[in-house]
Amino acid sequence: MARFLVTGAAGFIGHHTVRQLTAAGHSVVAVDRRPGAGPALQQADFHQLDLLTCDLAPLLDGTEYIIHYAGQPGVRESWTQFDAYSRGNIEVTQRLLEGLRGRPAVRKFVLASTSSVYGSAPMPAREDGPTLPVSPYGATKLAAEQLCNLYGRTAGIPWLALRYFTVYGPGQRPDMAFTRWLTAARDGTPIQIYGAGDQVRDFTFVADAVAATIKAAMVPARSLAINVGGGSAVPIREAIRTIETITGKSLNLDHLPPAAGDMPVTRASTFRLEREVGFVPRTPLAEGLRRQWDWILRGGEPHDT
Ligand SMILES: NC(=O)c1ccc[n+]([C@@H]2O[C@H](COP(=O)([O-])OP(=O)(O)OC[C@H]3O[C@@H](n4cnc5c(N)ncnc54)[C@H](O)[C@@H]3O)[C@@H](O)[C@H]2O)c1
Repeated sequence: MARFLVTGAAGFIGHHTVRQLTAAGHSVVAVDRRPGAGPALQQADFHQLDLLTCDLAPLLDGTEYIIHYAGQPGVRESWTQFDAYSRGNIEVTQRLLEGLRGRPAVRKFVLASTSSVYGSAPMPAREDGPTLPVSPYGATKLAAEQLCNLYGRTAGIPWLALRYFTVYGPGQRPDMAFTRWLTAARDGTPIQIYGAGDQVRDFTFVADAVAATIKAAMVPARSLAINVGGGSAVPIREAIRTIETITGKSLNLDHLPPAAGDMPVTRASTFRLEREVGFVPRTPLAEGLRRQWDWILRGGEPHDT
């Protein structure tokens, strides 16, 4: 069994990751600046710390695998709160990588990157194709990837940058579309969508994203970027119809102007995920949405997943 450090462990994907890792018998040090709650984190050695300022050595001592989710997610606010994105996604990553220097026990540093690094690049997006971010968020994650590359070459730290494509499922962040729309379906309130709803998104069920992440960390993959996509890219409007079928409610749509930085299409090439990691996502959108709906009906508490 291996020793993991999971950053951002109180967040959506981090908390699912801690649960899968501890269920598999791994030893997990978990860290987040928010308080940790729920049974999953109780199985780990949880520390409430800010990675921008805390002493990293006690967290890194003995660690073999680092899964680094802590960061500032979300596209739209990145135009107006750039300092938070720059600190959260660039400075924290550089601090961790610097802290990993000269630690031969470290087998992999896994960065949570994003499909937003692709921006206006052609889709399906390939890892060896262009990265053309259309938001400051995407630019900060691309900078974090470059830091991995830099420390990989100069300090010999093995790394992976996993480019997640819209992760959803129980515990999804309240600012993300499916949680907002399923909550609106439950409460009978209108849903807000940006533009006409013809944006295409490659949705990835959280258990698939996490299983891919753990497998990617532990296989002897080269240091590179890998897409983690769900293999089910659909227009937003179609996802809304699926929500209506699952919930049995017809949704009232409030159309907002298109948001700056919103990509018209995200679609992952999953060839590299299959070849390097041997992973194929399994959960169809309708099944994943049903599980997220069950969670909303149970109260939608972040850690009751
Ligand atoms: N959810 C998605 O669809 C998605 C898609 C692509 C990439 N990502 C990336 O994956 C990661 C996890 O996403 P999520 O949806 O779980 O987000 P989240 O906001 O739920 O989790 C991130 C966690 O990091 C913590 N954190 C932030 N800065 C910190 C700091 N300085 N010190 C300690 N903790 C800190 C936050 O408190 C939060 O709990 C993020 O880096 C995000 O950019 C997410």
